Amino acid sequence: MSEKFYITTPIYYPSAQAHIGHGLTTVLADALTRLKKMRGYKTRFLTGMDEHGQKIAKAAQAAGKTPLQHVDDMAVMWQGLWRQLMIDNDDFIRTTEDRHIRGVVKIFQKIYEKGDIYLSRYQGWYCVSCETYFTERQVGEGHCCPDCGKPVEIIEEESYFFKMSTYQERLLRHIETHPDFIQPLSRRNEMVNFIKSGLEDLCVSRTSFDWGIPVPVNGKHVIYVWFDALTNYITALGYGSEDTGLYKEFWPTAVHLMAKDIIRFHAVIWPIILMAAEEPLPRMVFGHGWVLLDSGKMSKSKGNVVDPLVLIEKYGAAAVRYFLLREIPCGQDGYYSEAALVQRINTDLANDYGNLISRTVAMVERYFDGQAPAPGEPEAVDRRLAELAAAVAEEAAGYMEKLDFSNGLAAVFKLIGRANKYIDETEPWTLAKEPARRERLGTVLYYLLEAARIATMLLGPAMPNIPALVWAQTGHEAADCQSWAQLAWGGTRPGQRVKKGPGLFPRIEWQEDETEPADAAGGVDAGAGSEAAGASLPLIDYDTFARLDLRVAEVLACQPIPKADKLLKLDIALGEERRTLVAGVAQHYRPEDMVGRKIVVVANLAPARLRGVESQGMLLAASTDAGRVEVITLPADIPSGAKVR
Ligand code: ME8
Ligand code: MG
Repeated sequence: MSEKFYITTPIYYPSAQAHIGHGLTTVLADALTRLKKMRGYKTRFLTGMDEHGQKIAKAAQAAGKTPLQHVDDMAVMWQGLWRQLMIDNDDFIRTTEDRHIRGVVKIFQKIYEKGDIYLSRYQGWYCVSCETYFTERQVGEGHCCPDCGKPVEIIEEESYFFKMSTYQERLLRHIETHPDFIQPLSRRNEMVNFIKSGLEDLCVSRTSFDWGIPVPVNGKHVIYVWFDALTNYITALGYGSEDTGLYKEFWPTAVHLMAKDIIRFHAVIWPIILMAAEEPLPRMVFGHGWVLLDSGKMSKSKGNVVDPLVLIEKYGAAAVRYFLLREIPCGQDGYYSEAALVQRINTDLANDYGNLISRTVAMVERYFDGQAPAPGEPEAVDRRLAELAAAVAEEAAGYMEKLDFSNGLAAVFKLIGRANKYIDETEPWTLAKEPARRERLGTVLYYLLEAARIATMLLGPAMPNIPALVWAQTGHEAADCQSWAQLAWGGTRPGQRVKKGPGLFPRIEWQEDETEPADAAGGVDAGAGSEAAGASLPLIDYDTFARLDLRVAEVLACQPIPKADKLLKLDIALGEERRTLVAGVAQHYRPEDMVGRKIVVVANLAPARLRGVESQGMLLAASTDAGRVEVITLPADIPSGAKVR
């Protein structure tokens, strides 16, 4: 029987604004689940919403809705976000669901009957934003929340208390005997110190509002929202219901992921709830770091939130996921900036990875008519590439299994970098000129297809949509590229159909100090006259010139691009082919002036994304110092698609 993994994120508060910090936890959990599946484990992945408590009751009131209307609306929005981010959760738990409420009532009752929950009075400080009780010492003289900094309120009310202190030594012993229980190590040490400083009994009910689960033995009280929320991890498996099949199957294989702000609840309160209820403890509680902006920790209360949906729309979900996993070091805080995101896309994804795929595919198309060649006897350089692929797979898995996707992905890029160098070293274009070296050329291209296949499989957990896009070009069968065993060298089948497709990651034109990609590039820009007439470029040979694919195109349609005052979007015909171009000529031509023209385009320019539109080539125009721009236009009877030499 294979090992199982139950992977969870926190259940998020239904706030109106999700941000990329939430995205980090959820993407980590999703990528880990996909990796575990690939490695043959049975997995279950849970995320959801934490819908009770004073904070949400207040937010609903502010929005002029009932709490239930409010959380229903938010749940739709959040689930939509997770679909956009390619999150493949098996279940989505909401704490307002009956299945959850039943389980919470059951566990509360059980602990109460055992005598570990007792009625008393609470008098002290409470942070509504964090839904957390604090002591006088913790809130200090300013009476502010030590976690979020907002003012705390004093509350005094009758309350049920949970005897946490009873379990202090047992919890310490568990942590000692299970070194992986709290990860990473820094959090473990922090938690051990916290527990050793002495646990106080915890308030587990409130009476001053009613948006929560009633205490089973006393309807005046609702259960404290954290007690309610933490229990989601087992109510989602059917704890407290008639059907406990999933609970038996997946508890206690849980890996709970979250940021460090809430590790205390998961590493102390949650295990003690489980101990009191005589249920086994989860396998691991992992607290990653925060996504920071230059202006500090991103949080909805500070208003410095980066909306993941906006980023997904602009750069694609794969790139956003890759950035989060690669850029935020495991367990530590990391910084988000749009410049850093664009840099990752251009350097890692477009330049290194995207190029490896497009070069490999283009060469198989050109030299072997789009059929994967069979490899001949390998040379040392080939064997080194194959060995590196195997080593990288192991190294990457080692890191990713420990939730260190940053180093795991860096390992994959060692293989990608090596494969690109392998092209430069083996010079397939030189081999192609010598008919006697055809078998050697076949070996090189076969090895490249393999390296590309293995790297793509290893990137799959981070960017789940990318493998299918690559296989569509390389001709691999998805079924041959799924399991860990299929990472073994040799999965490419000689003869499989290889066919160039669109670039996977177009380079993004972006300048610091801009919140939007630059208008320039992909055509003439308004400053194009600065390339002074007469200033000459170095000489090139004919071969270099011949690498330009200049062609006649007919403009079929043309439209302005909203909010980009210099850009026009052109739909063009290149013979039979249809393409979209973005050109910086909007200040010189009206869209209707462009339609019907026969223009000259660079047909093999790498695509670039401008204001969200992919430009698949570039038109040619003359420009003068005085700022005049003339699009090169040919007589109407020249057929589109004709070569320009
Ligand atoms: O705490 N960087 O929900 P929440 C990294 N409902 N991760 C971040 C982040 C940031 N800047 N901001 C948020 C709650 N997160 C409770 C949880 S669980 C039983 C109840 C992520 O909506 C991170 O996972 O405030 C953090 O732990 C979680 O969002 C908090 O989400
Ligand atoms: Mg929070």
